[in-house]
Amino acid sequence: MIRFGILGTAKIARAFFRHPLEGVEITAIASRDRERGEQFAREFGIPRVFASYEDLLADPVIDAVYIPLPQHLHAVYCIKAASAGKHILVEKPAALNTRELRSILRSCRLHRVLFMEAFMYRFLRVHNRAREIVLEGTIGPLRYIDFNLSVNAAALGLGGTRFERSMGGGALYDRAIYGADFLRFITAAEPGLFRSFMEREPGGGVDLFTHALYRIGPVFAAMTVGFTADANSYTLCGERGSVHNPVAISGRSDPQLLSIHLHDDNRRYQETFPAGMPYKWEMEYFARCIENGEEPFLGPDNSLGDMAMLDELFRKSEEM
Ligand SMILES: NC(=O)c1ccc[n+]([C@@H]2O[C@H](COP(=O)([O-])OP(=O)(O)OC[C@H]3O[C@@H](n4cnc5c(N)ncnc54)[C@H](OP(=O)(O)O)[C@@H]3O)[C@@H](O)[C@H]2O)c1
Repeated sequence: MIRFGILGTAKIARAFFRHPLEGVEITAIASRDRERGEQFAREFGIPRVFASYEDLLADPVIDAVYIPLPQHLHAVYCIKAASAGKHILVEKPAALNTRELRSILRSCRLHRVLFMEAFMYRFLRVHNRAREIVLEGTIGPLRYIDFNLSVNAAALGLGGTRFERSMGGGALYDRAIYGADFLRFITAAEPGLFRSFMEREPGGGVDLFTHALYRIGPVFAAMTVGFTADANSYTLCGERGSVHNPVAISGRSDPQLLSIHLHDDNRRYQETFPAGMPYKWEMEYFARCIENGEEPFLGPDNSLGDMAMLDELFRKSEEM
């Protein structure tokens, strides 16, 4: 049994209580506000409450922490957690840039703790099946990927830290990190950025919308991420057909489907997948890695590859 503590009463932390966890106990919650922490603990039956993140990290009962803090605090608390000997499951993006990420990873190595970035979507069968269809050659050699992950943040009432530049806000940190991970996941290669166009909030605020074009060997890819349009889908196009997923990334527990089109005999069919439990599977997987002393597949190398793509988007996107 691996005992987890959670740093902060984040909305996303609630997702870990949707389904009973096996091999994991959420033993402690820390909040900057004791009353908020106690309320959260009562709601989810968490036995220990701390009024500071540091106090939770000092608790010897805790094996691992889940860090769903605003992005600018990920590096600070990953390093503190590693120094306290806690294994780390940190929300995406793990850090704000490669320099920060390398500091986290150095600290994890030094204190011999495991590190994993919380890409819950990688635990869903639907995305693994999409990749499998490509690898099986069903749609022929892959030629083009179209990945879209944008929400109309205003319409959904999304605000807060996502719109604070100094706190790691903006659509690149919030959305493009998924796109980067997805392109590397599907192609098992390092995408080269060709061109990227970005819209920023007036007055130098956060980035709102980015359209980036990549070349990955023989594959072209377009990644569109943002806080303005409603766009959430991907299409993987091969020489003989395509696979389309109408929901690229979603934390909702809904059934999923892939639409496959094979143009040789103009065959169209769908594969369907029952609702998954990505957050449960993610935390249980990380707990098994800790039990077995195994590096998670979403460990340091994966994060370094994704973060390099994000660094490049910040460096090279042309603001319009
Ligand atoms: N994997 C996914 O599906 C998914 C989905 C959404 C978000 N995320 C990621 O999860 C992280 C949290 O996102 P969220 O939307 O759940 O965040 P949120 O609800 O705003 O929660 C963040 C928590 O951080 C703590 N905190 C510490 N310092 C803070 C500060 N200066 N301002 C605001 N909060 C502060 C707060 O807890 P206390 O006040 O209790 O200490 C707060 O509840 C982000 O990295 C985000 O990218 C992942």
